[in-house]
Amino acid sequence: MACVVLQLIVVSCARQQPGDTRDRSTIKIGYFGDLTGPTFNFGQSAKNGALMAAEEINQAGGINGRKIDIVIEDDQGSPELAATVVNKLTRQDKVIALIAGGASGSSLAAGPIAQSARVPMISPSSTNPAVTQIGDYIFRACFLDPFQGEVMAKFSYSSLQAKTAAIMLDFNSPYSRDLTVFFELSFTKLGGRVVTKQSYTQGDSDFKGQLSSISAAGPDVIYLPGYYGDIAMIAKQARQLGITQPLLGGDGWDAPELWQLAGDSINGSYISNHYSADDPSPAIQTFVHDYKLHWGNLTPDAHAALAYDAMRFLLEAIERAGTTEGDKLREALAQTRNFSGVTGIISMDSQRNAVKSAVILKLQDGRYIYQETIQPEAVAAPAKPSPSPSPPKSRKKK
Ligand code: PHE
Repeated sequence: MACVVLQLIVVSCARQQPGDTRDRSTIKIGYFGDLTGPTFNFGQSAKNGALMAAEEINQAGGINGRKIDIVIEDDQGSPELAATVVNKLTRQDKVIALIAGGASGSSLAAGPIAQSARVPMISPSSTNPAVTQIGDYIFRACFLDPFQGEVMAKFSYSSLQAKTAAIMLDFNSPYSRDLTVFFELSFTKLGGRVVTKQSYTQGDSDFKGQLSSISAAGPDVIYLPGYYGDIAMIAKQARQLGITQPLLGGDGWDAPELWQLAGDSINGSYISNHYSADDPSPAIQTFVHDYKLHWGNLTPDAHAALAYDAMRFLLEAIERAGTTEGDKLREALAQTRNFSGVTGIISMDSQRNAVKSAVILKLQDGRYIYQETIQPEAVAAPAKPSPSPSPPKSRKKK
């Protein structure tokens, strides 16, 4: 009867042999991320990666004969909206899993809703430790910020020979706050010293007060654990003030848009990141080639590559589970071991995190140039962040 009503099912029924009772309905997966807003590049890149993975699987016949249908929602980079759209995706669209394409703040707001709906959620690149601590339905495809902060602290101290650092953080972002803590912990442990910490909030436009304080403190390097839109403005104003020290950041800088906004002012900066599109490994070069063909010659950034991996390991878990039922799918995801992704081997640890290496990239003339790869030493439990630094003082006046 349903075959008469729904065209989609007519097609499915037509293909099925008499007596074949296998489920041929489409598998609905939700994608949400910031497709618009101050860091729209994150959501767009991740969406492109996730869609490409699903299209490849569909072209190859789907999962156990079922096609994938992605329901896409824009959270505009707002944690509140992320929670709203996940409510809609789980209750109204009844998606069986979610790919969370946004930054840590959005994943932290959306995660509890996915958890209580018992719909598995995978964040491709939210690195804040608290994301997967929400509950056993929340997974991620990337390393965590304790590692990312340590990686940049070590690179600063050892490779750049920095003995002092200044930090300027986005006070409203859990990502930025915790990276500050982790960087400082590691840098101090190595023998370095953080000489000043300044803060801002996303959307500020005048950073000169904080930058003047940093300039006066005369650090060897300046760590900016923020998102590319703000970073572009900070870098420009720093150079205008005559600050020449290397600027350092993390995966929140990774967007082609950064170059359009910041121009030359970010030349000579370094970031920690998940992968390098320049990596000659065949897996990466095939992905870069296919992605460029698919998306109008765009070079995939780390968020695109991680979302591609996240979607692929989700689909692999669905296939392995043989069902889209929440509890069983959750179980299959938790058992993911040695999944060969573009960004590295993905195995879920007991906390549903992927333990992976990081790369350091140098920013020069519109390019992110590969410097080195840093392996996680051991599968160590992430350190708990100590209390966050105090809020910005008289930020507006600065
Ligand atoms: N890893 C960063 C975070 O967790 C940056 C990020 C950017 C994450 C874009 C997801 C998407 O906030």
